[in-house]
Amino acid sequence: MPSHRPPSRRALLLRGAGLIAATAWLTPAFAQTTLRPTPSQTEGPFYPVALPADTDFDLLRTGSATYGKGQPAWIEGVVTDTRGVPVSGAVVEIWQCDQDGHYHHPGDGGKADPAFQGFGRVSVGRDGRYRFRTLKPAPYSGRTPHIHVKVRLDRHDLLTTQMYVVGDPGNARDFLWRRLNEQGQAALTRPFVAGADGLRADFPIVVQA
Ligand SMILES: [Fe+2]
Repeated sequence: MPSHRPPSRRALLLRGAGLIAATAWLTPAFAQTTLRPTPSQTEGPFYPVALPADTDFDLLRTGSATYGKGQPAWIEGVVTDTRGVPVSGAVVEIWQCDQDGHYHHPGDGGKADPAFQGFGRVSVGRDGRYRFRTLKPAPYSGRTPHIHVKVRLDRHDLLTTQMYVVGDPGNARDFLWRRLNEQGQAALTRPFVAGADGLRADFPIVVQA
């Protein structure tokens, strides 16, 4: 009796295909994307030993002081995982030298301008978005302009890297920038575009969360 025969291999395959199709239909489009993780780079010697009292998104205002040197810039983007899903709750930190090339760090002799915050930290919400108000990075001895970036989730470090400025002539001479392959250079080297309220650089961050 045909109805009692076990299903053929072909029928099973078709059922399986139907199930996969149904699953694909139900799965949000972003979950099918595969993004390349943002390349990591060395932390460098100047991560703050002690965090400043002011660690907010605006590195150009420190307490009541305003930093007036250099070119103000917004750095902004979305933190996602490799499927493109925002990493809600991730904490993004940046740190960089002032316009004269000094970090707030004992290893840099305490020469950094106190009006420049030098470090900022923001938590991202459900949309994964972050933004900082800071300087377009300035060069310092031996390095091309860069901003250090770290992403954490809970107590875990998800990524430590550096971002660079498109078109800076120092990039090609920089020992860390040169270590990146072409895709890595493209991911970490971003254009600073003039806007209504200063320069703006979009830096999307993809982590393996
Ligand atoms: Fe640095």
